[in-house]
Amino acid sequence: MADAFRLGFIGAGNMAESISRGVIKAGVLPPSSIRTAHRCPKRRSVFQSFGVQILETNQQVVDDSDIIILSVKPQVVKEVLLELKPFFTEQKLLVSIAAGIKLKALQELSGHKRIIRVMPNTPSAVGEAASVMCTGEMATKIDEERVSSLFKAIGKIWTAEEKYFDAITGLSGSGPAYIYLAIEALADGGVAAGLPRELALGLASQTVLGAAAMVNQTGKHPGQLKDAVASPAGTTIAGIQELEKGAFRSNLISAVVAATKRCRELSQS
Ligand SMILES: NC(=O)c1ccc[n+]([C@@H]2O[C@H](COP(=O)([O-])OP(=O)(O)OC[C@H]3O[C@@H](n4cnc5c(N)ncnc54)[C@H](OP(=O)(O)O)[C@@H]3O)[C@@H](O)[C@H]2O)c1
Repeated sequence: MADAFRLGFIGAGNMAESISRGVIKAGVLPPSSIRTAHRCPKRRSVFQSFGVQILETNQQVVDDSDIIILSVKPQVVKEVLLELKPFFTEQKLLVSIAAGIKLKALQELSGHKRIIRVMPNTPSAVGEAASVMCTGEMATKIDEERVSSLFKAIGKIWTAEEKYFDAITGLSGSGPAYIYLAIEALADGGVAAGLPRELALGLASQTVLGAAAMVNQTGKHPGQLKDAVASPAGTTIAGIQELEKGAFRSNLISAVVAATKRCRELSQS
């Protein structure tokens, strides 16, 4: 277990649940070190069911925590930070996972400078998030280490400058949806080639999982792994030729660039 600190969530929604479940499961913190508040009894009982402390108000959560993860929807961030502004003392670290809200805005709204911004993605629900963090001016090395330990409990985490966050949103934020399309299409291909639907879907998703694990675990370039599967005049190169006719790689590149552009537009509006 990491050094002891108290973790609070403002916004007991899906992400807060994934992170707290992961943190407890990985043994980073015991449930008694985690607290949150929610107006809805159903959400309170979900968190209570795995040992998280339920407090009455957001203010109590801030008062009773060393690290406060802001996990409300972006449109609620302003209202919540203005309400909590008087309670962020220097000892507390504010961590925001709200998509599209920059460190500067978080700092202005909260009146606080000890901030870390994290962009996780939806596979956090199954412990396979790709998260990236950037740090505000007053965050310490220990703050970074603690946040890293929290997000490692739900996947992997990288550190990057904030200027990359729109592109990160376009790649790892939106990326799971691109891959869901790919899995669905591979399964459709299997069905078109005569496989039963259930078998085709199982094979498609496990193939994507296996290919990602090969890239992650061997450290080999994906091009090298592709070459190793594609034998001369074989089946795989015939399939690859069809993908290239449909500009498969160019389409994925364009998807990331388009999502990045849209993220930039939304964060400016
Ligand atoms: N889901 C992801 O994979 C993902 C990835 C990257 C970033 N994020 C970011 O993570 C944040 C949370 O996303 P989510 O998917 O977990 O959303 P969510 O499930 O809707 O959770 C937000 C929670 O905040 C509660 N809430 C609303 N107003 C509140 C207030 N004034 N005080 C306290 N709690 C309040 C909501 O309650 P009600 O439902 O009753 O309003 C809800 O339970 C968002 O900012 C999102 O941009 C999410």
